[in-house]
Amino acid sequence: MARITASVYTSHVPAIGAAIDRGKTADSYYAPLFAGCEPARRWMAANTPDVIVLVFNDHANAFSLQMVPTFALGMSAHYEPADEGWGARPVPPVAGHPALSAHMAHCIIRDDFDLTLVHDMPVDHGCTVPLSIMFGQPEAWPCAVVPLVVNVVQYPVPSGRRCLELGRAIRRAVESFDEDLAVQVWGTGGMSHQLQGPRAGLINQPWDNAFLDRIVADPEVLSAVEHVEYLREAGSEGIELVMWLVARGAMADLAGGGAPTEVHRLYHVPASNTAVGQLILENALT
Ligand code: DHB
Ligand code: FE
Repeated sequence: MARITASVYTSHVPAIGAAIDRGKTADSYYAPLFAGCEPARRWMAANTPDVIVLVFNDHANAFSLQMVPTFALGMSAHYEPADEGWGARPVPPVAGHPALSAHMAHCIIRDDFDLTLVHDMPVDHGCTVPLSIMFGQPEAWPCAVVPLVVNVVQYPVPSGRRCLELGRAIRRAVESFDEDLAVQVWGTGGMSHQLQGPRAGLINQPWDNAFLDRIVADPEVLSAVEHVEYLREAGSEGIELVMWLVARGAMADLAGGGAPTEVHRLYHVPASNTAVGQLILENALT
């Protein structure tokens, strides 16, 4: 059977992708950030999964603001990098896993989540920057990806509680898939950032660090945090952090299993306008 081996959390700042694409990772601005990512990259090289369920938000690239699904699951064998206005990033296309997508769609919809199923979808920096952060610049990504897109760009957006419950449904779906696959669930976006308006540039280091502590140790309580707290404390784009709760909800301890092991944590300020956070949590062996 498929099993969820770990959950991975990372910001998806487009400037980080541009630094990798343009060979600027050793520049003085970026070198400390990429040094901080090294332990995650080493762990990932030693623990590359077969499939990543990659939870991210589309930034009006795949879906215009005319049609915004709350939760959308990619069903394809192939996802092209999106053209985000300066052309598509020079990264490999993303290979999907249609059989796992079909099984997840069946299970999660029967589990009362109304997913939108998307058969043709380009993937933007929300998906490709986390892959670049963890895997660098390979010819092809080393594993398949099932993209799961969450709306955090147009209100109303789903609550933390709903995101945690979606993670639980993902776990039930993945762990009932009859193929021996190591699966990771990645939650992306955040940490505190606001890209527009009078508070543009807002970063709240104490709140972010408390979020990192709370998502590891107390995800149920964290999932009750209201949108208004994310907005007030983490800025308008800080709401992306609710997607981390999807990944956290897929861990064994939220289904009666043992507590996960934290194998990596990074907090770095800033990259572009954003506080960069990362976590890797390994599931308890059952
Ligand atoms: C930035 C961060 C994001 O999460 C994003 O989607 C776009 C831009 C930034 O900090 O520049
Ligand atoms: Fe974003």
